[in-house]
Amino acid sequence: MLSWPASAQTPAGSPPNGDKINPPASNCNTIPDTDTTKTPPVATPITRDLLMSGQPCQQKVDIKGLVGDDKAGRQMANLQRGFDFYSWLTFIAMNSPADGKVIGQGPRPGDDARTKWEDLQNYRPLADVMLSKGEKPVWGTRNVPEQCKPLDGPGKIVFQLGEEAFNQPFKTGPLIDQDGNFALFDILINQPMFDYIVDNGLYSKEGQQRFGQTIEFPTGNSPGKDKNTGVDIPGRMGAIMLKVSYRILDPLKNQNLVSQFHTSDALIYFPGPPATKTGPACVEKKLGLVGFHVGHKTANAPQWVWSSFEHVSNAPDAADVGSNNLLPRYNFFNAACKKDCAARNDTPPQPWDPDTSLKFKGDYRSHVVREKMVPSFVLKEVADLNKPFRGILKGTVWENYVLLATQWPSDHGSKTDPLGAPAPTYLANTTLETYSQGRIPLASSSCMACHGNATTHHVPATASDFTFILEKAQ
Ligand code: HEC
Repeated sequence: MLSWPASAQTPAGSPPNGDKINPPASNCNTIPDTDTTKTPPVATPITRDLLMSGQPCQQKVDIKGLVGDDKAGRQMANLQRGFDFYSWLTFIAMNSPADGKVIGQGPRPGDDARTKWEDLQNYRPLADVMLSKGEKPVWGTRNVPEQCKPLDGPGKIVFQLGEEAFNQPFKTGPLIDQDGNFALFDILINQPMFDYIVDNGLYSKEGQQRFGQTIEFPTGNSPGKDKNTGVDIPGRMGAIMLKVSYRILDPLKNQNLVSQFHTSDALIYFPGPPATKTGPACVEKKLGLVGFHVGHKTANAPQWVWSSFEHVSNAPDAADVGSNNLLPRYNFFNAACKKDCAARNDTPPQPWDPDTSLKFKGDYRSHVVREKMVPSFVLKEVADLNKPFRGILKGTVWENYVLLATQWPSDHGSKTDPLGAPAPTYLANTTLETYSQGRIPLASSSCMACHGNATTHHVPATASDFTFILEKAQ
């Protein structure tokens, strides 16, 4: 499993063109390495300095110490810690203010601000990439549908509703919060990923048929020296894709929650048939971020690195339900229900299409529980890491988010496993893979296993390099 040295793990570099997304490339190196001359090795201290460390590099973790007991377990736990540390730096870098550098120093309640990934100069939503009739997308244009124009204003995000914005992967069902609102999902990509799609004509079905080659999105690397020539290699950001989930915050009822969630003022566009039954129409809603998935393709992880975060009040762990160790209120679990509750992690009754109220008809509310199938050494390591990271974000909306874990290829060059031996083998977000949680054979949640099945529109279908977005081309 441990096929490459921990010190060689460099999932991310700095953006290719200057300071657009994060502080300069040199910052990438200022995170102190683990000092391997000391036994046991010392981990990078988790201090407020990390809040502006910029685009993340892989923390160089020595496999000798830090966490874990037995030798094999310890090595695995340390590598896992390196990736989880990387995931937190990614979260901090991407959620830093679009117009500033330090996360948690914004003007909104809870020191919130519009984030880097909500800035259209950095990331584009899928609706701006896969256009109707397979038209060629252009970086830098903000597409505001006619019906949304009267509601538009500075800082508002345009959220286009398609089936995948309210229905979970493979149409397994919508997720309904405790106020009866639909949870909403969006997908975004960075410029290296966008450029690869445009340069190769992959934004249309016809273009994918024509391309016919192996899809290979660009990989990221940290700045360093070429092993053979000693020549400096600049840091580079690879293809990054995001999937985020939101709950709707009712302006009157949820006023007190605004300082507990990262929020966005969204213009929600219903395109009308065939994408949505309702529309064309546009409504404005305040959205609170509840889930955050990142995939980053890097030199040492061509199967991508998969990070997943959640809001702390989404749903209880299965064990906490057993021991009645519950918060008073959750976004997607009815803590007050004592009998005749909705079945756990069950899908709502049909019909599933929302109208412009975005309220689910009837009184059904999702009753979601987190099934923790990740190995206990990972759970412990992640819990130990979440604490200090939430500590340095204290007093801001961001202290309410936790890393679930990172899934990464532990043998990325494997000759037998094209997935590169994913570690851990299970990972699910209660808001994004609600209905793939648990022990169901084959259907159980693995980011890499499921995304490894994604294809293009080429006939016969070819692999799409772990992304489902090419399937959305028209
Ligand atoms: C059961 C299959 C499945 C699992 C498991 C799964 N995903 Fe996905 N994921 C999808 C599908 C399908 C989409 C496309 C959106 C849609 O159609 O709902 C998607 C979309 C995404 C996207 C947006 C880019 C894209 O490919 O469309 C990201 C990022 C993502 N998932 C990350 C993750 C992470 C991280 C995990 C693990 C914690 C994960 N996924 C687990 C099926 C899955």
